[in-house]
Amino acid sequence: MRITASAPGKLLLLGDHAVVYDRPCLVTAVDIRYTVSIETRQDTLLTISTPQMRDKGQLYSRSLEDLAAPFPQETAFVEAAVARIFAQFGGGAGLEIVTDGPQISYGLGSSSAVTVATAAALTRLLGHDLKPRQLFDLCYRAVLDVQGTGSGFDVAAAVYGGTLYFVSGGQVIEPLSQFDLPLIIGYSGEKVGTVNLVRSVADLFERYPNLVDPLFNLSQRVVEKGRIALLNSDWAQFGDYMNIHQGILESLGVNTERLSRLIYAARDAGASGAKLSGAGGGDCMFALVDQHAEESVKAALIRAGGQIVDYALHAQGVYFIQD
Ligand code: MEV
Repeated sequence: MRITASAPGKLLLLGDHAVVYDRPCLVTAVDIRYTVSIETRQDTLLTISTPQMRDKGQLYSRSLEDLAAPFPQETAFVEAAVARIFAQFGGGAGLEIVTDGPQISYGLGSSSAVTVATAAALTRLLGHDLKPRQLFDLCYRAVLDVQGTGSGFDVAAAVYGGTLYFVSGGQVIEPLSQFDLPLIIGYSGEKVGTVNLVRSVADLFERYPNLVDPLFNLSQRVVEKGRIALLNSDWAQFGDYMNIHQGILESLGVNTERLSRLIYAARDAGASGAKLSGAGGGDCMFALVDQHAEESVKAALIRAGGQIVDYALHAQGVYFIQD
């Protein structure tokens, strides 16, 4: 029997970095989807095939007896999920795992989506029907096994989908109602590892706790107000909160010149709010636009060297696909 699960990516709306420090954030799931397909093998090998490996004509395989951290970078999130599941539910039969999804992930949460799709497919294959909360807890631990840090907001987006108010480690996971977020995502073309940026903020916090902690408190206030604005579909206010939050991220030192160019280009072309999303250092920014500014903001982002990333927001959380 083969089980296939599909999980979405994420866009962090407000609360970036502060969410690592017990503060809340707002995140929406992005319909950039990753699928993981698993069946058992007759031996005790774990084989993994990713799109990148298929391009190179490679297939990764290892004995399940050796399955332990540190995992190889290319297969780390899949292996961490398998190891967590075997530790929790037992198992040990060989597995053939095939992952699929866009090769460019734009920093929109491919790792958490692959972890969640792997865990959903494997637990079902082993005969367990996990509740979203159980799936979140398991996958969050698997992600920490690989990265050693992170708030888990991306895992929650992949599990629950939609738009969430989320507090570090899943202390609160509150789904917010359906609304049409009028957002445009722009990719800067730069890529930097999230873990390094989380470390650089930790370093700043260690050196200047009395200055950085109030920034996290301000982020919390912006998120609380942003939550209300979202629930009221008050986009003008939400745009202001995005701009204020961008100032916080600038103060934390995670903005870049290229992101700034895109953010100012979007604002100058009529966006009522624009900020970077996630760890910073590159990846994506997003802009809030009403209908008649949409084309001019897209054109301005492209002129400023950005790439428009066109995926639906408020996407469905993990689901199974029938073969
Ligand atoms: C990274 O996408 C967002 C951070 O807040 C880290 C995290 O919450 O895990 C910087």
